[in-house]
Amino acid sequence: MGLLSLMGRDCPEAVSFLGVGEDPVPRASDYVEVDEGVLGLRLSELMDRGEASWQARAEHWSLGGGFQPKIALACFDGRWYSCEGDAATTHILKPGIKGRAFQSLVEHVTMRACALMGVEVANTEYLDGLGAVCIERFDRVVRRPFDVVRIHQEDFCQACGILPENKYTENRGPVAPDIAAAIDRFIDDPDTDKKAFFLMVVANHLLGAPDGHAKNFSLLEYPDGGVRLAPMYDCASGLPYDGPRDRRVAMGIGGVSAVGRLGIGAVTRMAKACDLNGDWCVAKVSDLSKGLPDAVATALNEVSGVSGAEELRIRLLDPVAFVCEATLARLR
Ligand SMILES: Nc1ncnc2c1ncn2[C@@H]1O[C@H](COP(=O)(O)OP(=O)(O)OP(=O)(O)O)[C@@H](O)[C@H]1O
Ligand SMILES: [Mg+2]
Repeated sequence: MGLLSLMGRDCPEAVSFLGVGEDPVPRASDYVEVDEGVLGLRLSELMDRGEASWQARAEHWSLGGGFQPKIALACFDGRWYSCEGDAATTHILKPGIKGRAFQSLVEHVTMRACALMGVEVANTEYLDGLGAVCIERFDRVVRRPFDVVRIHQEDFCQACGILPENKYTENRGPVAPDIAAAIDRFIDDPDTDKKAFFLMVVANHLLGAPDGHAKNFSLLEYPDGGVRLAPMYDCASGLPYDGPRDRRVAMGIGGVSAVGRLGIGAVTRMAKACDLNGDWCVAKVSDLSKGLPDAVATALNEVSGVSGAEELRIRLLDPVAFVCEATLARLR
């Protein structure tokens, strides 16, 4: 608990761990401006050490997950701030995974392509100078610079009462219909959000993004009591590294998790298990399969000139087109 009171003052969600009798004291002066040079040093040190996260001395933020290196900061009007005291972070920076070339750029391009296709995703930007993807926190509302409201967030392991070590389906973690059932149970407008969730899972599949486990989908609980599905986050294609063959996604669709093997039977099974309209689901898988290759190309065009973008054009576009074509063939 002592450790939490030091490192858990700004968590993913609206929870702050404080010492006994302590109240949070948000102060504008706890936002300490950092220049890009310092930020660059922090990120490259993080990558070199291969550690999951690294707080600066007076920071108290903490993020779940852990596989990817990351730091949390605040950004107001284009300036970066380290969050000390009880200051709330607003953005996450990830420099990528050591040994996986341009992985942070892959995360940005994957998320951006999804956004272009109408999948609800967290806003991202690629910062070429820092070689990092910058992700806007959806559990923070910036009322004005230095005045940030925390929105409560709960991932689907928490919502389904499953321990984090069981986050993958293969470790007895929640399957897509379990998440659909939790959406039915907790969310105000379940049909809209089950459809949004369906698009997220299909996009993960078509883009060969392997890590869409139950902790990578969340609920947002607003101060007025409203509950909604959070936008998608932590979605990055694995296709530039291994290609589509023998690749699997974390969350299967109608029992199919092998990339490129999605077909009408699996989609119809998933629709039934999630109580969604089967024809709507098939039409959406078809739309995404037709549109995603162009969306990836557009996302890459937006970052043309950035180091790695040309290499990714070769390593990402063809495999995505291959998976989408295979899916379209199996839908017929
Ligand atoms: N845009 C965002 N807004 C709010 N919270 C976020 C956002 N992105 C990530 N998080 C929170 O931070 C946690 C860790 O981030 P992320 O999932 O990107 O990292 P990770 O190390 O790749 O996780 P893992 O490998 O365990 O899936 C998430 O589980 C989520 O709770
Ligand atoms: Mg994650």
